[in-house]
Amino acid sequence: MNQPLNEAPGRRTLVITGASKGIGLATAVAFCDAGYRTINLSRSSPPDTRIESHAMDLTSPDAEAALTELMDRLVAPGPITLVHNAARMVNDTARDADVADFEAVLRLNVIAPHIINRNLIGKMSPGSSIIYVGSTLAEKAVANSFSYVTSKHALVGMMRATCQDLAGSGIHTACVCPGFTDTEMLRTHVGDSEQVLKVIAGLSTFGRLIEPGEIAATIQFVAENPVMNGAVIHANLGQVET
Ligand SMILES: NC(=O)c1ccc[n+]([C@@H]2O[C@H](COP(=O)([O-])OP(=O)(O)OC[C@H]3O[C@@H](n4cnc5c(N)ncnc54)[C@H](OP(=O)(O)O)[C@@H]3O)[C@@H](O)[C@H]2O)c1
Repeated sequence: MNQPLNEAPGRRTLVITGASKGIGLATAVAFCDAGYRTINLSRSSPPDTRIESHAMDLTSPDAEAALTELMDRLVAPGPITLVHNAARMVNDTARDADVADFEAVLRLNVIAPHIINRNLIGKMSPGSSIIYVGSTLAEKAVANSFSYVTSKHALVGMMRATCQDLAGSGIHTACVCPGFTDTEMLRTHVGDSEQVLKVIAGLSTFGRLIEPGEIAATIQFVAENPVMNGAVIHANLGQVET
């Protein structure tokens, strides 16, 4: 852990959380394909060996020290794209959410992005970007998703505050909000029921789930286009209004 994380001059770097699977993995692969050096932070490793991975539980009490040490060593001669993707979804309600569980969700979904920002923004040159992965539930609520809905709304606030605080820096930010995407998170949430997944697919105007690669392409577009600064982008295939 004492080596500097050096790289050839000018090459762009992606730093992403939660790229061991799902949307994060698809995003890291897309950026690797585009020639970025790609660095992942999650507990398990991605299956693609081009992605440099640092095993880390972002909710652990040691996470801040580990992130500070890691970001300190990062030498990125070109612009950095930072994607805050790792998140947890639990079933709970405003009536009964356990305080410790609520804190744990906020720690991963909201506090970890702040810790990484604090350590990385100073190293970001003009042309860099910070992309938050929100959710349809960042701007609306459904029952039984109290902690998740609260955390995703907070992320939109964090993105807007980031946009204002980084004015003039040449760094842009945005929040990409996926709809129902075929990943482990969604499958776990519905108890891996194909029947429920079919119903959920029917909630999009295209009658299907989103592929993780579609969200990855959206994230990449937003990361590479500063005109999107401050935007909340819903990538959900159009949800059927009921
Ligand atoms: N799938 C959807 O329908 C959907 C819809 C709206 C928004 N989203 C958002 O899209 C993003 C990605 O979701 P996904 O569906 O791809 O989820 P996923 O398949 O469950 O992947 C979640 C990622 O987060 C990482 N992670 C979880 N807990 C962690 C921890 N304590 N420390 C470090 N990393 C941790 C996981 O890695 P390890 O397990 O290896 O740690 C994994 O790489 C999330 O922000 C989610 O809220 C998803």
